[in-house]
Amino acid sequence: MSRRRVAILISGRGSNMASLIEAARAPDYPAEIALVLSNRPDAEGLERARAAGIETLAIDHKAHATRESFEQALDSALRERGIEFICLAGFMRVLTDWFVESWAGRMINIHPSLLPLFRGIHTHRRALEEGVLVHGCTVHFVVPELDAGPIVAQAAVPVVPGDTEESLAKRILVQEHLLYPKALGLICSGRARLKAGRVVFSEGWDAGGALHSPH
Ligand code: GAR
Repeated sequence: MSRRRVAILISGRGSNMASLIEAARAPDYPAEIALVLSNRPDAEGLERARAAGIETLAIDHKAHATRESFEQALDSALRERGIEFICLAGFMRVLTDWFVESWAGRMINIHPSLLPLFRGIHTHRRALEEGVLVHGCTVHFVVPELDAGPIVAQAAVPVVPGDTEESLAKRILVQEHLLYPKALGLICSGRARLKAGRVVFSEGWDAGGALHSPH
């Protein structure tokens, strides 16, 4: 089996990155994590990646006068290392259309809401403000419009009385760590693929279950 060479782009603690690295340890996982790259040299996740024996690289966006020059540096670093696929995992820089289009169909992101609800930031605060009873996370292909690309996988969790941004974030993060490796695996094995701007799946599933809130 040939494993796809994946780079994970982070800006912070890197807990989703760690779940991808862990999943890719399995010999039958269809991707290898070849690089972890951060726009912040002090990102906590870089140390975690190094400790796991993964090559790391920091390209500080502040050292670049323009977004374009930062992204050129990013793009060159990825291509020089033969990277075939990108996972954004808490990467908090908006990417230009040029970069997104260069990696079209080869870049996914995890977002902490059930898209298309709550694109952008402060998703948990906004979910609580709106009073939704089900919230969650989404893995999607990246397109130029923010948090708008074809959906690969989603996980839903209930919102319960007394929830705070923190408690909700914590409950959802548990699901993010399960969902992201699953979604990357589906894509890299060819079981999920893009077709006419949608994700299509080669496998059937049991559609009998549902999450009710309150149950
Ligand atoms: C995660 O909750 C991820 O979904 C979110 O940032 C967190 C990163 O945590 N991403 C976004 O909000 C992207 N717009 P991590 O660094 O521990 O993986």
